[in-house]
Amino acid sequence: MTVKSLAPSQEVISNSPPRFPKGFIWGTATSSFQIEGAAHEDGRSPSIWDTFCATEGKILDRTNGDIACDHYHLWEQDLDLIKSLGVQAYRFSIAWPRVIPTGKGAVNSKGLDFYERIVDGLIARGLEPHVTLYHWDLPQCLQDIGGWENRDVAYYFADYAAVVADRLGSRVKSYATFNEPWCVSILSNELGHHAPGKFDRKAALQVAHHLHLAHGLAMSRLRGMNLTSDLGIVLNLTPAYAASDSEADQHEATMNDGRTNRWFLDPILRGEYPQDVWEAYEEEGVLPTVLPGDLAVASQPIDFMGINYYTRSFVSVDDKKLPEGTEFTDMGWEVFPQGLSDLLIRLHNEYKLPDIYITENGAAYPDQMAEDGHVHDTGRINYLNSHFKAAHASLEAGVPLKGYFVWSLMDNFEWAFGYSKRFGVVYVDYETQKRTLKDSALWYRDFLKEQ
Ligand code: FCB
Repeated sequence: MTVKSLAPSQEVISNSPPRFPKGFIWGTATSSFQIEGAAHEDGRSPSIWDTFCATEGKILDRTNGDIACDHYHLWEQDLDLIKSLGVQAYRFSIAWPRVIPTGKGAVNSKGLDFYERIVDGLIARGLEPHVTLYHWDLPQCLQDIGGWENRDVAYYFADYAAVVADRLGSRVKSYATFNEPWCVSILSNELGHHAPGKFDRKAALQVAHHLHLAHGLAMSRLRGMNLTSDLGIVLNLTPAYAASDSEADQHEATMNDGRTNRWFLDPILRGEYPQDVWEAYEEEGVLPTVLPGDLAVASQPIDFMGINYYTRSFVSVDDKKLPEGTEFTDMGWEVFPQGLSDLLIRLHNEYKLPDIYITENGAAYPDQMAEDGHVHDTGRINYLNSHFKAAHASLEAGVPLKGYFVWSLMDNFEWAFGYSKRFGVVYVDYETQKRTLKDSALWYRDFLKEQ
C-alpha cells in the first residue's frame, strides 16, 4: 500500500460531504467516567479509573474524574446542548459502580435513577438514547478479585447488563455491551497505559477472552428480555498499512492487523480466533484459557457493530517514517480518512456484517477560546469533513453503514492525558463549567441542516 502525502489543512475544506441516505442517524458520543464527575455521590463506589488516577505518574496532568464536566449535575443543559446541534442520537455509557457499587449483588436505585433521567430526557427532546454498558469504569472491588482476568466477572457483567436493561428497557435504542475490547485488554493490561495498568501479555489475552465471553453472556440475557432495542458491541479498529512492499513489512502489517483487529472481530463475527495470531501466541506461551463453548456464546448474532475509527497504523520492521507533510492531530495520530473507507469496505468484503455504526470518530486539537469568544477549530472541521466523505464512499460501495457519532460532544477527561486533550465539538471551561459551541459544532449543525 503506498502512502500519499497530505498537506496540513489551514483552510476549511469548501466542498462538503454529499447527502447521506434518508434515515441515516447522526449523533455525538461521550462516556460516563469522562464527563460525569460526582465521583462520591449517590452511592457510587470507586472504579479502577479512580484508583489509576490516584496512582502517581499515570495521568499526564495529575487530574482525575472527581468533577470532570460535572455532567451528573449539569445533564439537563447538556441534553439541551445536544439537541441544539440538530443530531438525532446520543451515545453515552452507564457506570457500573453507580448501578451495582459492590460489583455484584445489591442494586443502587439512585444510580439507575440518574440514567433513567438521561434516557427520558433524551426521548423528551426527540433524541435516541444509545447506551454502552461498559466504557472502562470497572468497580474497583471487582479488580480486587482479579478484574477481567477472573472468569466470574464475565457472569457478573451479564447480571449487571440485565439490571440496567430491566430498568431502562426498550426506551434505549441500542445497547452495546463493550466499548473497545482492545483497549480494555491490550492497552490496559499488556501496554499498561490504562487502568489497571498491567504489563502482562498473557493476562491481557485472558482479559480479551473474558470480554468476548461476557459480551456473549450479556447478549443472551438481553435477548431473553424481549427488548426492541438493538444489541451489539463497539470495537476500535485500526487498519494496518505496510510501509513498503517488502515481505517483512507486509507480514508485520498482517500480524498487526491480526493482533489489533481480527483478534476482536473474529470471535464475535466468526466464533473463532484468527489462526495466524493464535499460532504466534501459542509459540510465545501466552494463549488464554478458552473453555469449550465459549466462542459459540461470544459469536451469537448481533444487531449492530459499532466501529470507532481515529487513524491507521503505519507498519514497518525498520522504522520507516511517514512522508513529510503528513498531518497529525494533537494526539499525534495521523489524519487518514481513506483508512475509514478502506476499513469499512474490507470488512464488508471479508465478513458477514450486521448493521454498522461509526460509534466514534473525531480529533483532538489544542483549542483555545479566541478573543471574539469563539473557538476556531478549523482542523477539526476538516477532519470531520474528510471522514464524513470517506464514510459516504463506503456507503456507495455497499457497506451497511447506518449512523455516525462524533467523538465527542464536549471536551472531557481524556484518560491518561487528563484534561490536556480536547476532543469536543463543544468547548468546556473547566473552571466555570461553561460550555461554548466550537466552530466545528456550528459546522456540524449546518451540515445536518442540509441532510
Ligand atoms: C477512544 C475512547 C474514547 C475516547 C477516544 C478519544 O478510544 O473510546 O473514550 O477517549 O478514544
